Amino acid sequence: MHEMSPLINPGDAVLDLGCAPGSWCQVAEELVGPKGIVVGVDRVYVPPLTLTRFIVGDATLPSIQKSIREQLIEKEYFDVVLSDMCPNLIGIKSADHQASLNIVNEALKIAHGMLKENGTLLVKIVKPPASKKESAEIYIRAEKFHPLNRKYPLSLI
Ligand SMILES: C[S@@+](CC[C@H](N)C(=O)[O-])C[C@H]1O[C@@H](n2cnc3c(N)ncnc32)[C@H](O)[C@@H]1O
Repeated sequence: MHEMSPLINPGDAVLDLGCAPGSWCQVAEELVGPKGIVVGVDRVYVPPLTLTRFIVGDATLPSIQKSIREQLIEKEYFDVVLSDMCPNLIGIKSADHQASLNIVNEALKIAHGMLKENGTLLVKIVKPPASKKESAEIYIRAEKFHPLNRKYPLSLI
């Protein structure tokens, strides 16, 4: 996806939601270079990477969102927000469907508060399986974010 049209540029501040075990962070580190920032968040611990500022916790919690904001010393907002967050699917279609919608909605809310104007959001949507087949994953890339009615200014998180 990045090769078709660059998603992350040198010097960017990148937020990676649901980053464990850390492969997206690793790629983001290479792309942002020494002047960039990568902040990774996951409920699961990730072994340290060179540049990534890692936060352990549930990204949907205000306390964790406050910690994310505290990592943004050099910039006010992130240039790119990535979300590969995936709910724990329990095999009950209606519950899994709702959990998938909820996690995407949380990613949108976080991005809404933390993405700069004209920033980019890449978010995974998990479509729970109708049968025992594997669930489908769709990635949506939303560009040129316009912070109209920004609901979550960083100062209020
Ligand atoms: C598919 S993995 C991410 C893989 C990662 N992008 C990589 O490149 O290594 C999904 C991750 O989302 C995390 N996750 C799900 N819900 C979360 C939440 N509310 N807050 C933080 N992390 C969450 C899970 O713990 C899991 O590690």
